[in-house]
Amino acid sequence: MKKLAAGNWKMNGLAESLAEIDALAAAHPAPGCEVLICPPSTLLSKLSERASGTAIDTGGQDCHVAASGAHTGDVSAEMLSDAGATYVIVGHSERRADHGETDATVRAKAEAAWRAGLTAIVCVGETLEQREAGQTLAIVGAQLRGSVPDGATASNTVIAYEPVWAIGTGKVPTLDEIGEVHDDMRTQLTARFGDDASGMRLLYGGSVKPSNANEIFGVSNVDGALVGGASLKAADFGGIVSALG
Ligand code: 13P
Repeated sequence: MKKLAAGNWKMNGLAESLAEIDALAAAHPAPGCEVLICPPSTLLSKLSERASGTAIDTGGQDCHVAASGAHTGDVSAEMLSDAGATYVIVGHSERRADHGETDATVRAKAEAAWRAGLTAIVCVGETLEQREAGQTLAIVGAQLRGSVPDGATASNTVIAYEPVWAIGTGKVPTLDEIGEVHDDMRTQLTARFGDDASGMRLLYGGSVKPSNANEIFGVSNVDGALVGGASLKAADFGGIVSALG
C-alpha cells in the first residue's frame, strides 16, 4: 500500500498559488508516498497541467451526484476528471455542516466519483460534543456504514477520519485516540469488504503539521493524512510528505 499525503486547499488559492506546486515538485521529485492536492475547482485544470510530469496528483473537493444537468454552480465528477483530477473528496464535515449533506448524499457522491473513474476520499468524524458523550466510535461507525457504498475497494476508495473539533483548531486527539478510531475503522471495513479493506488507505485529518506528522504517521492503521491549512504552503506540506515518505 502506498501511503497518501493529501492537501485540501478548501476555498483558498488564486492563480498565484500555482507556484506552490512548482516548489513542492522541485523539493519532492520522487516522494516515497503518493502526493495529492485538491485545489478549488477554479484552479483544478491549471494546477493539473502544471503538475503533469511531476509526482503530484490532483483532485476535487466535492462533486454533484449527476454527470451533467441543470444544477447551477455545481461541478460533476466527470468535469473534475476532464480537468485532470484523479481523486475527489466527498462528505467533508464542512460540506456536511454547510450544505446539509447526509450519509446518503455522500454515498451517492462516492458512487458518482467511481462512475467518472475517480477515487473517492470519504470523510467521517465526530463533533466535540459527540466525543465528550463517548459516542465517537458509534458515530464514525454509522458514518462509515452510511457513506461508503457497496463495492468499495482499496483502489476506488480512501477513508479520511477528521474529528470536527480538530479541524483548523490546532487541537489534535491523542495518539491513542487516533489509533482507537483507525483500528475500529479497519475492523469494520474488513468485516464488510473482506481482505480488500486491508489495503484501503485510512487517512487522519485535523491540524496535521510538519511538527506532529511523524508521530501521527507512527500510529497503527494511519496510512496518510488529509491536510488543510498546512497544505497551502509547499514548505509546510513538504514537511508532511517527508514524514510520510
Ligand atoms: P486543517 O489541517 O486545517 O485542520 O484541516 C483539516 C481538513 O479539514 C482537511 O480536509
